[in-house]
Amino acid sequence: MIKMFGQGDSEIAKYFYSLFQPQDAVLAEIRERSDKAKIPSIHVCEADGLHLEILVRFQGAKKVVEIGTLAGYSGVCIARALPSDGKLYTFEMTPLHADVARESFRRAGVADKIELFVGPALENLKKIESEGPFDLVFIDADKINYPHYIEWAYRNLKVGGAVLADNVFAWGYIVDSRTPPPENAAAARELRVFNNLIATDKRWRSTILPTGEGLAVAIKVG
Ligand code: SAH
Ligand code: DHB
Ligand code: MG
Repeated sequence: MIKMFGQGDSEIAKYFYSLFQPQDAVLAEIRERSDKAKIPSIHVCEADGLHLEILVRFQGAKKVVEIGTLAGYSGVCIARALPSDGKLYTFEMTPLHADVARESFRRAGVADKIELFVGPALENLKKIESEGPFDLVFIDADKINYPHYIEWAYRNLKVGGAVLADNVFAWGYIVDSRTPPPENAAAARELRVFNNLIATDKRWRSTILPTGEGLAVAIKVG
């Protein structure tokens, strides 16, 4: 018998949220300001923001890369986990998102730990390669490029370095028997490529934490 993967239990969720209170006023304000700027509300959820902070602390990471900044919500969570001499390099395609994120970093008091690059991530990532090797890479931008982002991460992480990747359940369409609507087809296909790679390639040792979206955790082992 296959046991449940994640609880899907709203009473347990309520218990967690009321006890741990994962979203403080600074993070709540980012969501509000982002809505006012008409930016899509696709930030990590409150719980995953805390998961990111804890995982970055767990890794003892000092040099972190984020692909997909949006309004800076996850970036603030990551930056809070960094020591004062730590650095987050974050990559965002859309100038409006980048402007809102810059303000988020300033208000959260973490701007001095963050460098933001605006433009297609695959182009801009080249600019930081000389700063590597990195301790952790968080992938959360265009899903069709996840296979490219993990190859970049492999080349630029230390051995023992970690990849975190959001949305690897592809909104449920990751399951082979589910045919995604046309607008999600390419994303679901490339997320399967990504998951197959981290699960089977001997250079990685990996799991998927059963968050609502599916949070992949992959360690570079070879
Ligand atoms: N990590 C954010 C959410 C990211 S949403 C958070 O949880 O707060 C995905 C973001 O990736 C969007 O802002 C989108 O504009 C950006 N994006 C999409 N394609 C991209 C690309 N090729 N390069 C860089 N950013 C990209
Ligand atoms: C989308 C992207 C995300 O990173 C996410 O967490 C949710 C939705 C999207 O492109 O629709
Ligand atoms: Mg996401």
